[in-house]
Amino acid sequence: MIFAANLKCNHTRASFALYAKALNEALKYTKNEDEIIVFPPSIAFLGEKLDFIQGTQNFYPCVNGAFTGELGKMHLDEFGINCVLIGHSERRALGEDHELLKAKFEFAKEHDFKIIFCVGEELECKKQGKTKEFLNKQLENLDLNYQNLIIAYEPIYSIGTGLSAEIKDIESVLTFLSSKTKAKLLYGGSVNEDNIKAILDIEHCGGVLVGSAALDVRKFINLIKG
Ligand code: PGA
Repeated sequence: MIFAANLKCNHTRASFALYAKALNEALKYTKNEDEIIVFPPSIAFLGEKLDFIQGTQNFYPCVNGAFTGELGKMHLDEFGINCVLIGHSERRALGEDHELLKAKFEFAKEHDFKIIFCVGEELECKKQGKTKEFLNKQLENLDLNYQNLIIAYEPIYSIGTGLSAEIKDIESVLTFLSSKTKAKLLYGGSVNEDNIKAILDIEHCGGVLVGSAALDVRKFINLIKG
């Protein structure tokens, strides 16, 4: 299973160093087949060898250049980072449109990065029965056969709300996505210690992308240990 933690705009360089230390320790005793990924804020990237995959929450599709405030491949390389989050709804909400997401996807693919591409609909869209149509649009013109691709289904109404989507809805979307791609599929949106087992039991579910419940490293470790 894949356990991914999106720390968002939380943790400092100092606190993430402690987070990573505790996680490294704990991972010595977990199943090898699990894949653990953490997306810290970029200011907290660590340069040392880690027992988990360090990913970036954001990057600009360039190696370097005149892109004020952005992060290029050159900066990721310095920390050995080759795993990227693309399409998170919080970045889409800041204005990242399909064109930019596609450019990020293609750049990441060109450089063989592991991509976690997020998709997910608003509650209104679900109520109107338009989820599949909407997800099709979000995945349009992306290479769904890219071998280093993971897709995270994160319905917007469940992110950070404490209320995950219903199991039957997750199941239906993951089944739909699995008909379009062989990529591993994750669920994200208010995953916590009470619901993780039922979520991981869903057919086609290859893991979880966790925000709030992964901010405390002990809680994240408990989710991994099950
Ligand atoms: P959440 O965030 O677990 O706090 O809902 C998940 C995410 O945004 O990836």
